[in-house]
Amino acid sequence: MYTAVTFVVLICLTAATHADHHHQPCHSPNMTGFLSVMKMKGEMRAYGAITYDSMGKKLRFRSNESHFANTSLSLDLLMFFEEGIFYEIDSKNQTCEKKTLQCTIHPLQIPDEARFLATINSGNPSIEGEGLKINAWVGSMPDKKGYYSMSVTMGCLPVFSMYLDETSFMFSLLDVENEIKDPDLLVVPSFCQGLPVEETPEGTVNSFINEFM
Ligand SMILES: *[C@@H]1O[C@H](CO)[C@@H](O)[C@H](O)[C@H]1NC(C)=O
Ligand SMILES: *[C@@H]1O[C@H](CO)[C@@H](O)[C@H](O)[C@H]1NC(C)=O
Ligand SMILES: *[C@@H]1O[C@H](CO)[C@@H](O)[C@H](O)[C@H]1NC(C)=O
Ligand SMILES: *[C@@H]1O[C@H](CO)[C@@H](O)[C@H](O)[C@H]1NC(C)=O
Repeated sequence: MYTAVTFVVLICLTAATHADHHHQPCHSPNMTGFLSVMKMKGEMRAYGAITYDSMGKKLRFRSNESHFANTSLSLDLLMFFEEGIFYEIDSKNQTCEKKTLQCTIHPLQIPDEARFLATINSGNPSIEGEGLKINAWVGSMPDKKGYYSMSVTMGCLPVFSMYLDETSFMFSLLDVENEIKDPDLLVVPSFCQGLPVEETPEGTVNSFINEFM
């Protein structure tokens, strides 16, 4: 995987001229799976289960502490990208914080303004089960201070997404199923209902990615 990552990073830097303007980014289906989050400097930041409603633009991420990786962050997030609102949930203490999203970019959906980069064959595509064909997309972060690169399968399941910024991240999706297995995970828990929206301090940009800082 790291070879592919390096490759994508390298071609990213020269991507603009090769972009195919006739391609439209695909839209990911509903998904249930696992997400691993790594800081590019090497720290395994989080690992956990995701549930994604692609039409409703809702995402739940819950870190899984029983995972083998030594992760440094424990998070439970429920995001409503359409409404621009999200919840940081603490199920153990039954507490919740409701905040506004200033940036709706996230690793499960290719932004509409992304540019198609290339189709890449990982492994050996001529042997059944040994190859993975992925489409790579690239684009600038909304604040223009960095780039992202997203690689998805032919069916638009994200494989990995990178955000190259002051703090660079890689998100990988694993064991994806094309359905929502537990729709209740996308419902605001009763103890979070009716909360006021917390104020966002001046200069803070809330986004799914920034939650892993
Ligand atoms: C995705 O999930 C939502 C919420 O459960 C549902 O309304 C929608 O029909 C699903 N979409 C597909 C394509 O299955
Ligand atoms: C946590 O991770 C383990 C190992 O990957 C998995 O078996 C388990 O189902 C996960 N639990 C949750 C709540 O995601
Ligand atoms: C887990 O990571 C922390 C710092 O990120 C480190 O101090 C600790 O030794 C690690 N534990 C294991 C078991 O690797
Ligand atoms: C739950 O609340 C207690 C008391 O406010 C706090 O000390 C503890 O850290 C909280 N637990 C979690 C998991 O945040």
